[in-house]
Amino acid sequence: MSVTDTSATTSTNHAFGIDVGGSGIKGGIVDLDTGELVGERFKILTPQPSTPAAVAGGIKEVVDHFDWTGPVGVTLPCVVSQATVRTAANIDKSWIGVDPYALLATTLGDRAISVLNDADAAGMAEDAHGAGRDVTGLVVLLTFGTGIGSAILFNGQLIPNTELGHMQVGKEEAEHQASSKVKDDLELSYEQWAQRVSVVLSAYENLLWPDLFIAGGGISRKAHKWIPKLTNRTPVVPAELQNSAGIVGAAMAVTAGLRV
Ligand code: BGC
Repeated sequence: MSVTDTSATTSTNHAFGIDVGGSGIKGGIVDLDTGELVGERFKILTPQPSTPAAVAGGIKEVVDHFDWTGPVGVTLPCVVSQATVRTAANIDKSWIGVDPYALLATTLGDRAISVLNDADAAGMAEDAHGAGRDVTGLVVLLTFGTGIGSAILFNGQLIPNTELGHMQVGKEEAEHQASSKVKDDLELSYEQWAQRVSVVLSAYENLLWPDLFIAGGGISRKAHKWIPKLTNRTPVVPAELQNSAGIVGAAMAVTAGLRV
């Protein structure tokens, strides 16, 4: 490389993120300064059954699509602690007990890898580059989808694996009352569903006293239809990064050397 070649400096602040969900495995190269994808987002269908070996193969396919050889951050819809997958919602139950670092080292070879919960990754990305970027204090991101995912950050510092969707609120788990799947399954209006979300958020705000809730998941794209109907004291704003939040957060995690 000659001294005038700047290619190394233009690519140093990029990392790769992969977001594994029940239906798709999405990935892309992330500019860590802006929190934006560099180029396209590539998605394949999650293999069924979504066993560790099959999903690891899918992750490799997405990484190889970009000819990416650097660090890779990966999200899973699971609690991951002490380098072990502890729960498996919307993914094959055989993930429980697996060391995802050992699995991915075998599949992706020798490189830096971070594995974290999908909502935690989305929370990191939204807090730094999205709806939480100008907020100090306690930020709680919730993803409303098949379940309810959660991330808690205090001044940008993630407290991993909070799983607020599984908190008992009244007689049921929160995600059994107020996920967006429940809205669809029960054919609830936005008004009816917002009442349920208010009840769940009220339990969270009484426990945590957050400064901001960020509402993510696909239904956040229709935020104007339901966020104004919420009755909570804490401000609620829609997520901004949409379906790249998990990818961006995964790339941030591996760059930070996060290991949960
Ligand atoms: C899981 C969480 C996950 C969320 C969103 C919940 O059912 O328990 O770990 O973050 O769904 O995928």
